[in-house]
Amino acid sequence: MKFYGKARIKLSKSPPEEFLEELTNIVSKLNEETLLRGVKNPEDGARIISFSFKDDVITFEIESGRLIPVHTAALRIKNFLLKILGMHYKIGIRELTLESPKVILNGELRINIDIPIIEEIASSNGQTIITLKPLNESLLQKPIFQRLVDLITEKEQRKQWGGKIEHWQKIKESQRKEIKFRDDPNVILEEIGWISNVAPGQWLFTPPFAHILRKFEEMLIDIILKPLGFMEAIFPKMEPISIGLKTGHLKGTPNQMIFASIPRSYNIEEFEPWQDYVTIYNEANPDFLKSFLESPKYYLCFAQCPPFYEFLSKKVFTEKHLPIKWFDRSGPSFRWEGAGGLRGIERLVEFHRIEIVWLGTPDQVIEIRNKLLERYEYFMDKVLDLEWRWAWVTPWFLVHAGETEEMGDKIDINQPGTIDFEAYLPYKGSRDDNKSWLEIGNISIHGAKYTRAFRVQHASGSVLWTGCSGFGVERWVLAFLSQKGFERDSWTKTVQEYIKDLPSGLEAANYPSPQYLNLKRAIEEKVGIKCE
Ligand code: SER
Ligand code: ZN
Repeated sequence: MKFYGKARIKLSKSPPEEFLEELTNIVSKLNEETLLRGVKNPEDGARIISFSFKDDVITFEIESGRLIPVHTAALRIKNFLLKILGMHYKIGIRELTLESPKVILNGELRINIDIPIIEEIASSNGQTIITLKPLNESLLQKPIFQRLVDLITEKEQRKQWGGKIEHWQKIKESQRKEIKFRDDPNVILEEIGWISNVAPGQWLFTPPFAHILRKFEEMLIDIILKPLGFMEAIFPKMEPISIGLKTGHLKGTPNQMIFASIPRSYNIEEFEPWQDYVTIYNEANPDFLKSFLESPKYYLCFAQCPPFYEFLSKKVFTEKHLPIKWFDRSGPSFRWEGAGGLRGIERLVEFHRIEIVWLGTPDQVIEIRNKLLERYEYFMDKVLDLEWRWAWVTPWFLVHAGETEEMGDKIDINQPGTIDFEAYLPYKGSRDDNKSWLEIGNISIHGAKYTRAFRVQHASGSVLWTGCSGFGVERWVLAFLSQKGFERDSWTKTVQEYIKDLPSGLEAANYPSPQYLNLKRAIEEKVGIKCE
């Protein structure tokens, strides 16, 4: 990446001859020292390639490398001149403008950035040149130019990543387990009326299924979280968009988030036209409703852990306060999955998750993650007897935050990054097909990504890290039922102990559909419900 621009400096009056004679020396000094300060390789610094003057205006044509972008160079030149002009000639500087600023990239890239300071983006002769509108000093002082450079760098890196969200590498897997069941539990659960669809990706769970979900949560808490000292907290489920700005979700995943709007007014009289409309038409018209609402200032719980970071924000910790180990299971998360591809409880818009969060020194955060992994493995293998695999996924957001890099064949998991937990779903087909595997949870070390963004501090000034892990309750239950089926005898001892006294599913004259009534009763008998 290279830069180009013309720094136009307007003085308080025309300078005398002797200053103009000195200018060549000044430029040499700038080129040899000031514009190379802090860089090892002169290519990365900046240089003045020509200069000219007319009346009270001096113009410097600048070329620069990666480390001293042209806006920084322009400001350095101005500050340097200010001293000499002020001290020796009593002349001030009225105005600094950077004209024709250009960012020059290798390769003919198809970069698309639609922001007002960009004049033109052109590709030719193996280069891409982004030309900006002239920037005045206040724009040069702001981090806008730097952010533009960061944005372009990000877009370039992203292309090299192939546009993927993450890179996947298997790190561990269970033994193959004997598969006794091949049916699709999503279909059965709906047929027997244990779950009922409300809207795309949203279901009502009747008491027997709700009971199973709650028991899975209880097992996780008793077997993994309590022994490791995690304590329950309650996080809000509607978050101000300012939190999503700090975590990066607002930028990274706006296409998957569900936003919420509050009413424009608390005064019911202002809703009179709406009330009249509803009275006459009896229609839930979203377009008309919109005019009574504010723009969205919130989003519904998405990643579940962000309120934790917001809470930690600006707090200062010492050794005795650390680590912090909490979990939240106080409500659902929402993830818009697009119009297609939703299937039963496999892919949901509204789902339940136990979100496990921790804060500590880097060593503490790694150790906690490792202990959690040990317990998770025991849970998957011995408690549920699942066929599972783990993958090291290098998420784009951590690479971009500079917390991690993509790794080669040898993976070191004791650093920022994410491990996905996947379970085999026999009803999907062969194990060799990646589509037959479902992500049921994950565990991440974020490094300082969030402690930096939310300014969470250690009194000693040393760095703090965070970690989080999501246990997607519906998906764990689905994985279990997919592999073990509805036969109580096929379940492990622990699951049998936890899931007893299962309530019977609801029956009405037309629910579940009469053709499935016998199936419902047969399944309820198999899982151990006594049918009345
Ligand atoms: N917050 C993490 C995620 O959204 C773990 O649940 O994936
Ligand atoms: Zn999280």
